[in-house]
Amino acid sequence: MAAGTRIAVLRERASGETRVSATPETVRKLTALGAQVAVEAGAGLAASIADADYVAAGAELGPAEQAAAGADIVFGVQGPDPALLAGVKPGAWVVGVLDPSGQRARIDAYAAAGLEALAMEFMPRITRAQSMDILSSQSNLAGYKAVLVAANLYGRAFPMMMTAAGTVSAAKAFIMGVGVAGLQAIATARRLGAQVSATDVRSATREQILSLGAKPIFVENVRGIEGEGSGGYATEMTEEYQLAQAELVSGHLAKQDIVITTALIPGRKAPRLISDAQIATMKPGSVIFDLAAPQGGNVEGCMADQVVERHGVRIVGYANTPAQLPADASALFARNLLNFVSAFWDKELGKPVLDEEIGNAIRLTQGGKVVHERLLG
Ligand code: NAI
Repeated sequence: MAAGTRIAVLRERASGETRVSATPETVRKLTALGAQVAVEAGAGLAASIADADYVAAGAELGPAEQAAAGADIVFGVQGPDPALLAGVKPGAWVVGVLDPSGQRARIDAYAAAGLEALAMEFMPRITRAQSMDILSSQSNLAGYKAVLVAANLYGRAFPMMMTAAGTVSAAKAFIMGVGVAGLQAIATARRLGAQVSATDVRSATREQILSLGAKPIFVENVRGIEGEGSGGYATEMTEEYQLAQAELVSGHLAKQDIVITTALIPGRKAPRLISDAQIATMKPGSVIFDLAAPQGGNVEGCMADQVVERHGVRIVGYANTPAQLPADASALFARNLLNFVSAFWDKELGKPVLDEEIGNAIRLTQGGKVVHERLLG
């Protein structure tokens, strides 16, 4: 094997980003594959990983420019600043959550620098890619954290408690959107002792809600209730459905103490699920956590990273919920990247080689140009 593929792991620079794209465990495994890993000093500190642990795992440690120098692959949680990548090899891969709709100038800069930018959030939802699915690994943790944050802001307890001083009744929690984050939110709220109900536009989620011991709240007998588009994602719903859903949900919301919203439609602004008028019908002291806050929010009035109070109801959402669990979020993110590189590792060549299906799905730039169909035209 030649000199070996060099993988650079840079410290995240985005504000509020605490995660890191490799851990000592993944450094060890990447090294075992035949890669050489260079980690920027301090990259893991916010995720409670000391530089010495990377070195013990076999990584080279240095400043950003030194780590990037001669790299074939650069890992990031978010896309690294192109200015840090001056010394990488021509055509090097940049792998991370690259957010092309929010960071278009950065993607153009990767193209201009001749880099191959690979957006991990575009990984297709196919069985063989599950272990590389960053959206799933991070959403799962976000769903858990959303419930804990809501529980903390709530001025009452979640479980029913029968005490000598009297009975505390169980909190009613309603989860809107039952994808990866929503399923974890249901499970977490149940574990804390809440009475949980949930809704989604995809009718396939009804069974999943029941199997977690929660109550499904679903629109019945209306055109367009299948709700499932390509790749297991939601589609936009008919107007008739939306009206029926609003009516059903309004009645239910007024009785809830905790609401967690997680609804997303890929490539679009998050759907609006809760209006200010609906919030006004809720009980004072109720808490809403909007996990879609970074995508524009499911809840009217939600402002990322702030607790907003409307009609006595507290509305909260973070710009980056997984970053609130830096150690676990990094461990899973790093494993997603490790699984990605190992799945495509070509032993003869000593480097990863993408296949067409996944390559075309995630490749944003190549040969000096932006090549992804979603970014063209
Ligand atoms: P997501 O983050 O795109 O959306 C979250 C949830 O919101 C979805 O369940 C969606 O149906 C729901 N939603 C959208 N609009 C709504 C509305 N107006 N009202 C109520 N709910 C609404 O979805 P996520 O979590 O990424 O997963 C989507 C699906 O993909 C799930 O079925 C999941 O099990 C599947 N999946 C498959 C994978 C694989 O095979 N590799 C990996 C991960 C997920």
